[in-house]
Order: sequence, then structure tokens, then C-alpha cells
Amino acid sequence: MKFLGIDVGTGGSRAVVIDENGKICASATVEHQAFASPAIGWAEQAPDDWWRAVTAAIRQVLQTLRAEEIGAVSFSGQMHGSVFLDEADKVLRPALLWCDQRTEKQCTEITAKIGSERLIELVSNPAITGFTLPKLLWVRENEPEIWAKVKSILLPKDYVRLKLSGDRASDVADSSGTLLFDVQNRRWSGEMLSAFEIDKSFLPRVFESIEITGKVSAAAANETGLRAGTLVGAGAGDNAAGAIGMGIVKPGTVSATIGTSGVVFAVTDAPKIDLKGRIHTLCHAIPDRWHNTGVTLAAGLSLKWFRENFGAGKSYDELVDEAAKVSAGADGAIWLPYLMGERTPHLDAMARAAFVGLTASHTKAHLTRAVLEGVAFSLRDSFEIFKELGAEISSIRLGGGGAKSALWRQIQADVYASTVETIEAEEGAAFGAALLAGVGAGAWSSVDEACAKTIRVAERIAPKIESVEKLNRNYEAYQLLYAALHPAMKIIGEKD
Ligand code: XUL
Repeated sequence: MKFLGIDVGTGGSRAVVIDENGKICASATVEHQAFASPAIGWAEQAPDDWWRAVTAAIRQVLQTLRAEEIGAVSFSGQMHGSVFLDEADKVLRPALLWCDQRTEKQCTEITAKIGSERLIELVSNPAITGFTLPKLLWVRENEPEIWAKVKSILLPKDYVRLKLSGDRASDVADSSGTLLFDVQNRRWSGEMLSAFEIDKSFLPRVFESIEITGKVSAAAANETGLRAGTLVGAGAGDNAAGAIGMGIVKPGTVSATIGTSGVVFAVTDAPKIDLKGRIHTLCHAIPDRWHNTGVTLAAGLSLKWFRENFGAGKSYDELVDEAAKVSAGADGAIWLPYLMGERTPHLDAMARAAFVGLTASHTKAHLTRAVLEGVAFSLRDSFEIFKELGAEISSIRLGGGGAKSALWRQIQADVYASTVETIEAEEGAAFGAALLAGVGAGAWSSVDEACAKTIRVAERIAPKIESVEKLNRNYEAYQLLYAALHPAMKIIGEKD
């Protein structure tokens, strides 16, 4: 039997088909339209564009496979986004995405209404602009004519599920990022729903990530080429699915993934809560396990932004090759990656990015290197919080674009001052989703078994002592810079 994993990302949707040994039989990625940013800090996408990309990606993988070979499909998806549907399941407005920062006011109101400690008791996380509930409150307040028509609210991949199987369903890992979910008890929080007058019927039924939520409908079979009746699994938000795809399943295993955002992900066997709210506490895609994540909003996005605006037409490889010739520490140039505000550790939607420490000797190559190092510093902030909370870190695995570049791998080993591992055939969250599909269909008895049978370490990279020392010095400065620049960022961010 084969299994299909679909990752509804931000940049695009990816379909990956694996066999029972974890071998990739086919894969395809279809890009989405870039997210729209109609005002500073806003981020919106059209949910039907995800469905277009998903159907096209499935059709591509089915060019080399028969639909009958696929035993089950499951999902991964960008988290927190809110899809607003009317009673006919028509999309009412573009979805507000995970990186949208418009909801600071709503976050302040949520915290004031519930109280910061009670909020963390109820949903294990503080009110964060990217999370879902503040987005609902924003639409209710600013677009009451749209809110009046809302009959259901879904996370991005769950909208694609609705199109695929007709079921209104979600999973514990993705629902954990809504601020309406009782993460400790793995169910919707009645207290939050009633405090904010959100009708429970607006929300989907929640499953464990390995459960089956429905079957591919005849209409969707027509559109995608899949067999009607193929099992559809619950799946998970992209961080949990990505972690499964990297074998991050046991307490103590940690991953550092650099995609558009950067995520440090640690598994725990009980919810471990940061009362300061600097990191997230969410359900893992495995029953009875949870995870903590620290999130850098502009990780890969920092490099993309830098290349597009200052890369002089060079490819990523050319820029990174130039940066590799500059020594560790970029001769004192430091990048603060707060292009979209920041979550960990500052929880500040108004944080702004900066290059600091420039001299006339710095070149584009230094700045590229500073960007790579600054993103790694930002992920190190999460490691420092995990250590402070007493989380066990037995191994660090790298994922995403940050694992594909030799220079970024070495920079991460040096900044984290730890050996880091890469895995063979890192296929990201879509691969994790395919493993969840296989567990749902009974090919493996558990996610642990699925990972043990399919995931192998490719390379171990040790830190270089001389670089560790230089980067420690820059990190010390980096840690001081947010606080030092904060008053200036506040003035810059003030609305006219
Ligand atoms: C996690 C988060 C991002 C998105 C990216 O909390 O917001 O990692 O899931 O797709």
C-alpha cells in the first residue's frame, strides 16, 4: 500500500506519496499565489487557491501511480489561519494567515477579559496575534456584515479536507493553535467559547492526528483523480507533521526547522507550560504527547527578502557561496530578523528588523552571512528558553531550507554549540502527513513504529570551536539589541 501526504503550506501545496518503507514514490509542489498584504502587517490568501494547488499537485503525483495504490491520504498545513464560510460553505473573505499581525488590539482584549494566568491555564498559550481567535474577533468587529454570514470556521488544511471529503474536521495539533482549544485535555475549551460568544457549531469536530475523519468524495475524486472512498486522515498542523516527518517523536528529541518561519520543536510527555508565554505549548500529533515550539516569524523569509531586494539578481546558491567566504561572526554585522514582528521570545507584533554593527568594510557577502547567523540566533533564543524550563534536549535535527545549505547547517551547529543531525530524504511536513495516513490505515501500529521504519540519520555536523566563540560574542550583543532598539521601534511603529 502507498500513502499520500498533502502539505498546504504558505508558498505552495506539496503532495508526497510514500510506500511502507518510507520510500518516496512521487512528489509534486504547486505554488500558491503570494499572500496579499493589503496593509502593513496583514497577510491574506484565497482558500480556493489552496484547493487549486492541491488538486494540481495530486494530479501530478498520479501521473506515475494508479489511484488504487493509495490506501489513505492525510494532511499537514500552515497553522492558525482562519477560513470563514457561510451556510453553503462558500468562502466569505480571504483567510487571515498565521503571520498576520493586525490583531494586537484583540489580543489585549482577550488577555484583559480572561486574565493572563487563567488564559494559559485554559489554552496553554498567551494571546498571540497570529493565533486564530483574535482573527475571529477582528472580523466580528471590523466586518460585521461578513461575520453575520459566518456559519463555520476552519483552519487552512481543514478547508482542503472539506473539499476532499465533505467532512468538517480538525486534529488536536492544529486546533491547539486557535486559542480556543484546551490543549491539556485535547478538546475545545467551553470556557473560552462562551467568554467570547463563539458558537460551538462554527467549529469542526476534533480528532487525534492518526485517526480517520472521512473518505474522498465522488466529486473530489473527479477533480483530483484519487479513488472515491480513499481514507482521509486527520493529519496535523505543519509543525507537528514536520516533526513526525523528521522522527521527532520521543521526549528529548528537538528539531530546528527553517522554512518561511523558523521553528524549534521539542517533544514532551505532558504539557509543559511557559508562564511567560514566550513559547507555545501544543498537542503533538501522537496521542498523550505534547510539544513546545519557539517560532521565528521571518526565518527563510529574511533570506528571501534580502535576496529579492539586495541580492543583485544572484541566486540563493550564489549569495550563500559568497557568504561562506566571510568568517564566522560576519566581522560584527548582526541581523535582527523581525521583518514581521516577532513571537519567540519577544511576543511583539511591532518589533522591527535591523542590521546593526555595519562599517564601510562590510559587503553584501557579510550581510548575507549576518542574515543566516541572525536567523540562527533567533532560533537559539528558543533553545535558551527550553533549557530554562528544564526541557531535556538529547538530539537536534535540522529541517527545511536551513538543512539544505551546508553553510546554514554549520552556522546552526556553531550557534547552538551542539552537534546537529540531518536526515536522509528530508521531505518535510508532507512526508509526516503521509506517515500519519499510513498509521491511520493500519500499515504501522504507531507513529513511533512508522518513524523507526522509515527515517534514517544522514549526517552529523559538529560545531567548530573557534566559530562557537565568535558567534557566542555576537549572540551576547544580539540579545541586548532588541531591548536597546525597542523604544525606537515603538516610535517608528506609531500610526500617524
Ligand atoms: C506556527 C506557525 C508557523 C506556520 C507556518 O505556530 O505559525 O510555523 O504554521 O506554516
